Amino acid sequence: MEIINSVALVTGAASGLGLATCKALLAAGAKVMAVDMDHERLTSEVLPLGPNVRIRTVDVADDASIQAAVAAALADFGGLHIAVNCAGILGPCKTLSKGQLFPLELWNRVIGINLTGSFNVIRHASLAMTANAPNADGERGVIVNTASGAAWQGQMGQVAYSASKAAVIGMTLPVARDLAQYGVRVVSIAPGLFETSMSASMPPKVSQNLIDNMILFPHRMGEAPEFAGLVCHIVENPYLNATTINIDGGARTGTR
Ligand SMILES: NC(=O)c1ccc[n+]([C@@H]2O[C@H](COP(=O)([O-])OP(=O)(O)OC[C@H]3O[C@@H](n4cnc5c(N)ncnc54)[C@H](O)[C@@H]3O)[C@@H](O)[C@H]2O)c1
Repeated sequence: MEIINSVALVTGAASGLGLATCKALLAAGAKVMAVDMDHERLTSEVLPLGPNVRIRTVDVADDASIQAAVAAALADFGGLHIAVNCAGILGPCKTLSKGQLFPLELWNRVIGINLTGSFNVIRHASLAMTANAPNADGERGVIVNTASGAAWQGQMGQVAYSASKAAVIGMTLPVARDLAQYGVRVVSIAPGLFETSMSASMPPKVSQNLIDNMILFPHRMGEAPEFAGLVCHIVENPYLNATTINIDGGARTGTR
């Protein structure tokens, strides 16, 4: 699908990978509905990106909030062709820690935002995409989800996060099957360690372990524009569907 003149909804748009995705899509000629729960950063980081972007404060896990954001994209830009799920939280906590249980409230919050929130966006966005006229390839829309290398190689304290990201990978194929009849593709990306405020918030022991495992090439964290470039490629390449793509510089994490 061509990015130029298409309309995109990007979640987690105020920071890191989502913000870089907004910039890349705008540079390629899209109109962008940028949504995040952080109103301040939406205003300071996203609003100045120009007349082709709108901002909206949302909670991806909330039904009405995302329904309204999709409706706003339709009202402001006249359609919706691309949805990119970048909103996410880490919620670090061990299964057991000094006799304390992992709080179920935290578990539900991580699953609620990373998994249910992504699916909430998928269902509202895909309904809007069904109204699009198909392009020459029969395509009506593209959905990109953000999983994580932690789905396979979760670190200590990442049990909820890893479970949520493995579930994002797990839903990719059945959602793609469900939406194939409408000409909507669904692809997930599993990033390794990228330099964002999320990775900066990790306990130094965890991030150092991840950095130590960057033993191939290049020996560094990923940069957000590298993720955003992959999102743009997924949108533009009609033969990518129902799969999860790693972008991790070949990093392999240890077992401890
Ligand atoms: N940075 C990494 O190393 C890395 C690695 C693998 C996967 N990821 C995933 O990439 C995505 C983007 O992460 P990032 O590194 O850019 O992090 P980030 O913290 O910089 O950005 C995440 C954004 O999501 C927003 N958000 C959180 N909960 C929300 C909610 N309920 N509703 C709406 N917005 C909400 C935050 O306000 C924030 O702006 C996440 O899903 C993350 O799990 C990141």
